[in-house]
Amino acid sequence: MQQIKMNLPGHEYNLFIERGLIKASSVIICELFKCKKIVIVSDKNVFGIYGKTVVEDLMVHGYEVHTVILDPGEESKSIENLQYIYDKLLGYSANRDTVLTALGGGVVGDITGFVASTFLRGVRYIQIPTSVVSQVDSSIGGKVAVNLKRGKNLIGSFYHPSAVIIDPEVLNTLDERYFYDGMAEVIKYGIIRDEELFSNLEGYKNKNDILANIEYIISRCCDIKKEIVEKDEKDTGERMLLNFGHTIGHGLEAYYDYKRYTHGEAVAVGMCEISRIGEQLGLIKKGTKDRVKEILEQFHLPFRIEGADVEKLINIMKNDKKSFDSGLNFILIRKIGDAYIDKLDLNDVKRLLIAKEDRNGINKN
Ligand code: GLY
Repeated sequence: MQQIKMNLPGHEYNLFIERGLIKASSVIICELFKCKKIVIVSDKNVFGIYGKTVVEDLMVHGYEVHTVILDPGEESKSIENLQYIYDKLLGYSANRDTVLTALGGGVVGDITGFVASTFLRGVRYIQIPTSVVSQVDSSIGGKVAVNLKRGKNLIGSFYHPSAVIIDPEVLNTLDERYFYDGMAEVIKYGIIRDEELFSNLEGYKNKNDILANIEYIISRCCDIKKEIVEKDEKDTGERMLLNFGHTIGHGLEAYYDYKRYTHGEAVAVGMCEISRIGEQLGLIKKGTKDRVKEILEQFHLPFRIEGADVEKLINIMKNDKKSFDSGLNFILIRKIGDAYIDKLDLNDVKRLLIAKEDRNGINKN
């Protein structure tokens, strides 16, 4: 089993990576917790596939196991569901020794982490992520949150899990769209930090190639995330590099009311558009945008803004929660594997986003 240790002041924990680990998470949990009760928070889809395995494995080891099952989807990361989960925990007589377990993707991980950070002023929790995005990104680094009606992740904090249990085999049951959605974040790691990862991804021609190399892919992404989070836990500097493509991406998600693009798809468009803008401003090595575009196409991801009203999109971006008094930060790249943070003149961004549109409002390349 591969282990990656997160070394944060007062928060040391391991990421465990192994095929088939979901069937034996108790091995790790028993080592960590001598508690009586474990409450698993999951969604109907994930619990339907893996719930019985995880619950039975824990019960065999003497834990009293309870469950809270949410509807799948982003809408579940709501204030209403916080109340629902707190009520369930009280109904199970959960106490400060009780351990929460997030079994699912980013939505389940984020809301479970938020509940853990607030219930009885804080209880322990572990993550068992089951999507690509949650295995390489959202389960690691302690960002926990819920959404408000007016925006995603507007209420949140930093609260680290006691362990992250990653079984790459669970990705076999993801549907194509969500599998490639997660690959957008994997591509992001290559672009911001690791040319070699990016080149290897270019060599994977289909899902089978990716799955054959999935342990390497996950562990490389986790290593990069560890390195960045250890230097900037609270997201005031280097950690913002993880938002490459996200400024335009978040804008697009909101522009289409979270209905047209998944998060990864919107980030894919954002990564390609910001690379094109960077190239047109002379900030990036020539040809970089084409490499980004080609890998996104290869991974069945969109790469251009089609027909959106750019003025309106820019206005949405200005209100992003990641904006500061001093303006909006963009994550830019000098070349693949080398990213940095800087401000861009929004008039330039607007001009260059509009510049590519032909009469039908479709980008030319
Ligand atoms: N998902 C970006 C971060 O953890 O900072």
